[in-house]
Amino acid sequence: MVRVFALSFLWLFLLSLNYSANAEPISCLICHGAIKGKIQKDKDVVIDLHVDGEKYLASVHGMLNCTVCHKSFSVNPHQPARPGDVPGNIAALAEKLSHRAKIDPVAHAACIQCHEDIYKGWQHSIHGSNIIDKKKLDGPLCTDCHGSPHYITPKNTINSPVNRKNVVNTCAKCHDQKDIAEKYNYHTYIVERYYKSFHGKKYLLGHQNAPTCVNCHGYHDVRKWDDPLSPVAWENRMVTCGKCHEGATQKFVSSITHKPIDKDNPIPYYVRTGLIILLLSVFAFIVGHVFLEAYAEIRDRVLRKKKGGSS
Ligand code: HEC
Ligand code: HEC
Ligand code: HEC
Ligand code: HEC
Ligand code: HEC
Ligand code: HEC
Ligand code: HEC
Repeated sequence: MVRVFALSFLWLFLLSLNYSANAEPISCLICHGAIKGKIQKDKDVVIDLHVDGEKYLASVHGMLNCTVCHKSFSVNPHQPARPGDVPGNIAALAEKLSHRAKIDPVAHAACIQCHEDIYKGWQHSIHGSNIIDKKKLDGPLCTDCHGSPHYITPKNTINSPVNRKNVVNTCAKCHDQKDIAEKYNYHTYIVERYYKSFHGKKYLLGHQNAPTCVNCHGYHDVRKWDDPLSPVAWENRMVTCGKCHEGATQKFVSSITHKPIDKDNPIPYYVRTGLIILLLSVFAFIVGHVFLEAYAEIRDRVLRKKKGGSS
């Protein structure tokens, strides 16, 4: 009972404040900085109401008013926005994202105001079109690769999920999943095979020039591998590999794939099979040699015994 009273006083107090646009984001953080809790909005949508004000202000977007993205909220908390507060292009985009971006799709679409080229690149990529054109739920939104929109730090900072040290794990969140690979018909275990490749091994050792997924595939305008706009399509591969391997030839660029090592992938297959055969023959030779030697020894002893016996 006491709590209900306290809460209603809080509301009255807050509503009586004069929310000026300049007081933002503080006016939103009065509540969202203090509330620590989650609410269930829909069956599979849980909203975390807490926004860490200090981390927000230190992020690349710390200078932005909350409603620059949360356009459907007016400054006075949660009164619906006035007509025109959400520009038509953002409302239309939000509509196309709403099956995937269940928490404030307008805020997700709002990134386009300041990152227009990147946004358009993503929209036409295999990732964006998975959501926008195919109406599926599997492709990544900006926030799936960059983390919470409230705490984004520059890509060269260590906590950024797209930092060189973390980016392979970020792609792996989805590309490590067998069911997604099967559903979209690309190879399973791509990440595991990457780590076993020359490149992945060098990356794990901290080699600064070893390519991660994004050096070969790009990151915003990611395309299907055989799309002529993909950096790994046959027509572009010599340029892509050539950035690090000067003078890469057609033959050289076909040496990297994520295929399992089998007969469909002949060069590594026959090299590996050749090595196995070589190893087994050396082994068989040694074992054979030991046996023959032992046999010779026994035979000699037996013969000697017989000879000794008869003399
Ligand atoms: C008086 C306290 C208070 C203030 C001030 C406040 N909020 Fe909230 N906010 C809440 C509560 C409580 C909820 C959860 C219940 C709800 O959805 O209404 C919430 C929910 C939200 C959500 C999730 C909504 C959803 O259902 O998807 C967003 C986004 C949000 N607030 C943004 C803001 C922004 C932006 C501001 C500043 C313009 C703001 N809030 C100011 C109390 C507040
Ligand atoms: C750069 C754009 C941007 C800014 C600025 C921004 N938000 Fe958000 N916010 C978003 C997006 C996008 C989501 C939806 C995230 C999701 O789907 O998980 C969100 C989600 C939320 C939520 C729901 C939390 C959840 O579970 O994801 C709250 C509460 C919220 N924002 C409050 C705020 C407050 C308070 C501020 C200002 C201090 C603010 N936001 C500033 C983009 C922004
Ligand atoms: C009102 C303009 C504005 C909006 C809206 C906005 N941003 Fe930004 N964003 C900036 C500015 C300014 C910077 C810092 C300068 C820079 O590095 O480009 C930045 C930086 C970034 C960076 C870090 C770049 C780096 O240095 O590595 C990412 C990632 C990013 N924004 C993603 C988003 C996402 C995702 C959204 C939508 C949820 C969004 N932005 C919405 C203005 C905006
Ligand atoms: C598939 C993952 C992925 C998605 C989805 C994604 N990004 Fe990025 N983004 C990255 C990576 C990786 C980098 C850093 C690349 C590097 O090392 O230079 C980056 C860098 C950035 C930068 C810094 C400038 C630059 O080009 O390096 C901004 C700004 C940015 N992203 C905004 C966005 C916005 C806005 C969206 C949504 C439209 C988005 N990103 C979607 C992976 C992604
Ligand atoms: C050295 C360059 C290179 C690196 C690094 C790389 N890829 Fe690839 N990737 C390719 C090439 C080339 C293809 C084209 C298909 C082929 O020839 O097998 C491809 C194809 C793909 C495909 C689709 C086709 C298939 O083989 O099933 C996916 C998905 C993929 N890569 C994801 C990733 C991910 C995730 C990473 C990081 C763990 C990564 N790639 C790292 C070069 C690279
Ligand atoms: C949220 C999940 C998710 C994340 C994170 C993600 N992807 Fe994807 N990616 C997908 C899905 C789903 C597809 C297939 C989409 C389709 O075909 O409609 C895909 C497709 C691809 C393809 C094309 C595969 C082909 O068949 O040629 C490449 C390349 C790729 N992603 C690379 C990356 C890279 C690089 C990263 C990290 C920077 C990344 N992805 C992060 C979900 C994700
Ligand atoms: C971002 C730079 C970068 C890109 C892009 C790149 N590689 Fe590499 N690659 C390396 C590094 C670094 C090594 C390790 C070299 C060493 O140990 O001397 C390596 C090693 C190799 C090796 C092992 C043999 C050798 O020559 O050292 C092959 C084969 C190879 N890369 C093929 C490719 C192919 C094919 C592509 C394009 C699909 C490609 N690489 C793209 C940086 C790159």
